[in-house]
Amino acid sequence: MRQARVLALVLIVAASLLAACAGGQQQQQGQTAGAGVQWKVKKAGEPVYIGFSMDTLKEERWQRDKALVEARAAEVGAKLDVQVANGDDAVQTKQCDNMLTKGVDVLIVAPHNGEIAASIVQAAHAKGVRVISYDRLIKNSDVDLYVSHQVEKMGEMQGKYALDHAPKGNYVLIGGAPTDNNALLLRKGQMNVLKPAADRGDIKIISDQFAKEWKADEALRYTADAITKTNGDIKAVVASNDGTAGGAISALEAAGLGGKVLVTGQDAQLDAIQKIAAGKQTMTIYKPIKPLADSAVDSALKFARGEKVEAKDKINNGKIDVPSILQEPVAVDKDNIMSTVVKDGYHKLEDVYKDVPREQWPKQTAEGRRQEAGGWWQTAGGSSAFAAFCLMLGVALLRKRP
Ligand code: BGC
Repeated sequence: MRQARVLALVLIVAASLLAACAGGQQQQQGQTAGAGVQWKVKKAGEPVYIGFSMDTLKEERWQRDKALVEARAAEVGAKLDVQVANGDDAVQTKQCDNMLTKGVDVLIVAPHNGEIAASIVQAAHAKGVRVISYDRLIKNSDVDLYVSHQVEKMGEMQGKYALDHAPKGNYVLIGGAPTDNNALLLRKGQMNVLKPAADRGDIKIISDQFAKEWKADEALRYTADAITKTNGDIKAVVASNDGTAGGAISALEAAGLGGKVLVTGQDAQLDAIQKIAAGKQTMTIYKPIKPLADSAVDSALKFARGEKVEAKDKINNGKIDVPSILQEPVAVDKDNIMSTVVKDGYHKLEDVYKDVPREQWPKQTAEGRRQEAGGWWQTAGGSSAFAAFCLMLGVALLRKRP
């Protein structure tokens, strides 16, 4: 009798252990969402279908994002659908709905409006599809992952650069689109550094606007107003990206202040790097796009296969702490163009210095040229494959020799 009771107990414990294990397994394979959603999961070997919803291709960087996401998807053998909403929230929502209907396994979304895009996350989750917020944070939602650069730090870098080089005087701050969380994070970072200097009375912030849709002509208008207000007495324009920096520079040039006022930027786009080389813009923030694009596609693949995605950072989106993978930005001014964007093959030396007399071009060492070529090749994504190809070609040619 006692034996039977012990046996029954052992059976009950074994059964519950088995049930727990099975539950764990299901978590791994199907990973049930908090609200009981069954995530779509692809078996190993089954092709993965990714949807990439982009707000815009207006700035040069977004064209790189598109090309590099496409390249990575092709490299890992994923099917990819890219849709561009051209700044229209209704269009972006509809394009995402269409991709969900077409059966994407994961959505990568660079939102136009971070708040409105929360509904895209809801719609995707209703179909068991995970969403990766790309470059810009989707707010107030259960978005599954955020991949970006360290945006607040970029704002701090802009502010610190400005303060180091123009420690006193009148400042103009030009933010980006207020509907883009990045614009707010950048301003937060800038103010982390600039507010203490303003409180000390070292600098005076005479204008702190946000340019709708990151528009250059808004930046131009704000800068022109500030010039009028101060009779041209401006020491720095902390513009949040290269587009708005361009608008500010036009206003400064029109007032005869071109090259005389410190101007920050962000994106390291070609026209801005050219202006830095020519002394018209002072600095920019270089954000290598390839690691960002790769992290988005690689994470999408893992989500689609029910695997765990490692994300060591976290950013609160108003609802949850979103697991985040954030890349390092780099400050670029005229002194390190060669060792950053040119070295990485992000831009070519002859493009960057095209407005500068040739005798003033920096000397590029043989090592630099090799790295530039290497950088380009890595961007294209396949140095070892190329090396193997050359080796095989060499061997084949040698064999053919009589
Ligand atoms: C991006 C910037 C870009 C801006 C305008 C921001 O969210 O981070 O790189 O310049 O949007 O498109």
